Amino acid sequence: MDNIKTILVPVDGSEGSDKAVEFAIKLAQVYQAKIDFLYIANINQLAINACLSDAILDAVTKAGDAILDRALAKVPQGIKVEAFSETGSPSVTILEFAEENKNDMIAMGSRGLGVVKGVLLGSVSQYVVENAKCPVVIAK
Ligand SMILES: Nc1ncnc2c1ncn2[C@@H]1O[C@H](COP(=O)(O)OP(=O)(O)OP(=O)(O)O)[C@@H](O)[C@H]1O
Ligand SMILES: [Mg+2]
Repeated sequence: MDNIKTILVPVDGSEGSDKAVEFAIKLAQVYQAKIDFLYIANINQLAINACLSDAILDAVTKAGDAILDRALAKVPQGIKVEAFSETGSPSVTILEFAEENKNDMIAMGSRGLGVVKGVLLGSVSQYVVENAKCPVVIAK
């Protein structure tokens, strides 16, 4: 754990993901690490090709941009940060991104925007904790 160079922070705009952003900023300060924010629009490519109108795609993209902008605004000067937007299944895309970008750690919320309460981990955080090859921090 002595060489954390990049921290992947998947953000969905939820309270849980906000907590992960705050925590990742502190970690980035300690490790002098770079933060990669990642938003995933949860639409599969087939649906995009088949029937989604440009207007809907545009709205989804804008919503993602707003979430990423809000996360970026929290990062103090001097911390390296980059924002990424992807389309697909959030859990699978987070793991693919982390492996491709060789992130040293993932920081994410315990829950997201899902409406089911009373469960500690949402399906995305549970899948990532179980399958990631790097350390995962769950902010709560
Ligand atoms: N679409 C997404 N893009 C980026 N990060 C995401 C996305 N969805 C979830 N996350 C990350 O995963 C964390 C946990 O969210 P998760 O989706 O697992 O919980 P939930 O929404 O409460 O449950 P579920 O989605 O299973 O109904 C969030 O705090 C966020 O860090
Ligand atoms: Mg969710």
